[in-house]
Amino acid sequence: MTAIIDTICARRSISPKRLGYPGPNIEQVAEMVRAACAAPDHGNLAPTRFIYIPDDARQSLAEVFAAATLERNSDSSQEELEDAKQRAMNGAGLIAIWAHIDENNPIAPPHEQWIAVGAATQNLLLAANSLGFHTKIVSGGRVTSKSLRAAFNLGDGDVLVGFVVLGTYAGQTKKRLRPEPGEILSLWGPDI
Ligand SMILES: Cc1cc2nc3c(=O)[nH]c(=O)nc-3n(C[C@H](O)[C@H](O)[C@H](O)COP(=O)(O)O)c2cc1C
Repeated sequence: MTAIIDTICARRSISPKRLGYPGPNIEQVAEMVRAACAAPDHGNLAPTRFIYIPDDARQSLAEVFAAATLERNSDSSQEELEDAKQRAMNGAGLIAIWAHIDENNPIAPPHEQWIAVGAATQNLLLAANSLGFHTKIVSGGRVTSKSLRAAFNLGDGDVLVGFVVLGTYAGQTKKRLRPEPGEILSLWGPDI
């Protein structure tokens, strides 16, 4: 194994509630995004954007999360609204993942653009790990809400994929169910 394969295989998502301070500084976030920019991208369409939410903007985002909850259920309880707000405050760093998918691109069909978004995001997660941080991607129904779409200024073809929550975690990571390589690797031959 190489160091990079070790880093890849050791990656585990950690619950945002357990992702403590310190989080990445802006230079470290820029390094993660530099890694994201190295992802494969057919046609150089750059379908991914990462939007960093600084700590002093989290409270404003929390209000948008509460508005998104009310949008889905105008009878939401105070407890539900507080829970929604807390989700914008969890972790020591927060980065929104934005995708723009061109449905009619003549070079790269939508599935290739989505793969580019996923590859960029995975590069970002692995770069975060290599800088000593843990992460988890979260989305939830709120990402398609009018409130969040307006807050992130999304237009036609833009998708708010979710958020990468980042932070420091010193505890044990649980073993995760992963496929065995043999389950997803096969050999092709002309008689297949
Ligand atoms: C685009 C995307 C959105 C996700 N949204 C959520 C979510 O809202 N809540 C959640 O618990 N897990 C979500 N996940 C899954 C976790 O990020 C994580 O991958 C999963 O818990 C498995 O853990 P692992 O990454 O350690 O294998 C999402 C994953 C992706 C790729």
